[in-house]
Amino acid sequence: MCFSSFLKVSFIPSRGNFYIGWVRCLTVKYKELGRTGEKIPEIGMGSWQLGHGEGQVEALRAGLDAGCRFIDTAEIYQTEDVVGRAIKGKKDVFVATKVWPSNLHYDDVIRACDASLKRLGLKQVDLYQIHWPNKTIPIEETMAAMEKLVDDGKIRYIGLSNFSAKEMQEAQDTLKRNTVVSNQVEYSVLVRDVEKELLAACKKEHVTLIAYSPFGNGAFFEPRFAPFVEALTRIGAAHGKSASQVAIAWLLEKDPVVTIPKASSKEHVLENIEASGFKLTREELAAIDELCKKYKKSPLVPLHLGSLLKHTTFWHGSIAKRWMEGRGKKP
Ligand SMILES: NC(=O)c1ccc[n+]([C@@H]2O[C@H](COP(=O)([O-])OP(=O)(O)OC[C@H]3O[C@@H](n4cnc5c(N)ncnc54)[C@H](OP(=O)(O)O)[C@@H]3O)[C@@H](O)[C@H]2O)c1
Repeated sequence: MCFSSFLKVSFIPSRGNFYIGWVRCLTVKYKELGRTGEKIPEIGMGSWQLGHGEGQVEALRAGLDAGCRFIDTAEIYQTEDVVGRAIKGKKDVFVATKVWPSNLHYDDVIRACDASLKRLGLKQVDLYQIHWPNKTIPIEETMAAMEKLVDDGKIRYIGLSNFSAKEMQEAQDTLKRNTVVSNQVEYSVLVRDVEKELLAACKKEHVTLIAYSPFGNGAFFEPRFAPFVEALTRIGAAHGKSASQVAIAWLLEKDPVVTIPKASSKEHVLENIEASGFKLTREELAAIDELCKKYKKSPLVPLHLGSLLKHTTFWHGSIAKRWMEGRGKKP
């Protein structure tokens, strides 16, 4: 990551005077999205469980202004409107959203996408992802709708989420005119299950792995992982970086990985972005790998449960919806 600053002069009407100050610009590194030739920021901003207040909009806008021009949302998160407010008037933002597995019949995909575009205030979304596989609906039918959305200019790229290597291949095989560009899955220093198979499959097929929950959905900051965080703090100190930045930099060492931490405050957003371009040494990476053996957590949706759920209509039900919506989280 590079730093640059520029002088900002703004008029503050309430005070009737001018404010002159230096604004720090962070340059986030980019990685190629799939084999599209297009590059996206290696750090984006997640929005699950993000509140709806002005503070959250400001946090996202601060990230965009600092060069982190990639935001992830989903119809189920109920944050597309917040993202819409944050990106209003901003150019060149890469917006990713997702269709929920209960909406994977052809007409439902089209309807869901139209509704997402409306909430986001966009005519076209950059990346449209299938949030979870739903084996009760043929993947051919869903992917045909995704291709129709590309043809109609409503989405630019087709992505997946929570697909295994085999499911990813099956989805790709049904596509006629497009390729799958990404698969968004849980990956962090605490949850490394994708390393068994999916990471290698993504690399081989040139599918970008979008690592979600890089802080284990906040578990990284819980007291049980305090010794782990202390160890990463010591590693980061040599580079002037925090434990959170070490956790992100460790992920970004993996290819083809980009990540989307969720942060509700401007401070957290900027801290996360500043992990871009920071290189851990080979010895530090090995030390972190050793620590990871001791500090692990269960995935948000454990593999066997996930496989079971993909074959049922669970995701259509209210328990799943309430969980994903993160109800009770206030701004
Ligand atoms: N496709 C899927 O099925 C799926 C599933 C889960 C997540 N996701 C995506 O991935 C995104 C990220 O994952 P996540 O929301 O599960 O959680 P996460 O990014 O692993 O962790 C978020 C938590 O970490 C805290 N945090 C962030 N940056 C911090 C920093 N620099 N210092 C201290 N605390 C910090 C946040 O606090 P504050 O909010 O207070 O800043 C929040 O409590 C989601 O928002 C969503 O877009 C996708």
